[in-house]
Amino acid sequence: MPNRAIHTRADNAALRLVEATAHDLDRIMELERQGFAAGHQELRSAYAQRIATFPQGSLMAWRGSDCVGCVFSEIWRATPQPDATHFTLGHDIRERHDPVLGTELYISSMTLAPSVRGQGLGASLLTGFLEDVARAFPGLTSVLLLVNANWAAARRMYADAGFVEIARLDRFFCTQGAEPQEGIVMRRKMRP
Ligand SMILES: CC(C)(COP(=O)(O)OP(=O)(O)OC[C@H]1O[C@@H](n2cnc3c(N)ncnc32)[C@H](O)[C@@H]1OP(=O)(O)O)[C@@H](O)C(=O)NCCC(=O)NCCS
Repeated sequence: MPNRAIHTRADNAALRLVEATAHDLDRIMELERQGFAAGHQELRSAYAQRIATFPQGSLMAWRGSDCVGCVFSEIWRATPQPDATHFTLGHDIRERHDPVLGTELYISSMTLAPSVRGQGLGASLLTGFLEDVARAFPGLTSVLLLVNANWAAARRMYADAGFVEIARLDRFFCTQGAEPQEGIVMRRKMRP
């Protein structure tokens, strides 16, 4: 899935989606630190594995000469009711990724740099990403993700994009010294 431009709602800036490579790992980890609290961050090795295993589902978002975000995903076989074991932090993409028999796209991570948030770019990134993957993998029928119940912007963005809650994972997000937070599993059809 090479290099494609998507236009934002405001139409005053465009995002270019480019497959991630190992050269992007420093920037990915920077975005990870800016996007998620310490106890919720993925390891560099997990991202390296995602890029090596599924480059078409590992995209960097560029605006002009700035790398402003990234999205990562896996393709799973149909999982009617996923549970907490499906979403373990740092899990190896190869545990479930099956681009031949899989029908569900799992978005494992998505983040934008703080400097570009609040402009509708998240929704554009999500839509552009899903359109590209749907084209490249026509056998996909649904999309799945897990969001922290406290991440208001992400929840709103996913609800606006047609995702609906299918399960709650009590006390899923744990950070040392803080009360564990609930996870919400959301799903929608690949093509709304
Ligand atoms: C999630 C993320 C990509 C969204 O980026 P964004 O498009 O810049 O988000 P916005 O600030 O435009 O907010 C998206 C929506 O949530 C709303 N929103 C933002 N903050 C909110 C809050 N505190 N309470 C309620 N709604 C809120 C916005 O109004 C907007 O809704 P609208 O388009 O209907 O007006 C970005 O916030 C991010 O990278 N967050 C850190 C990482 C993360 O949470 N990733 C998701 C992992 S599941």
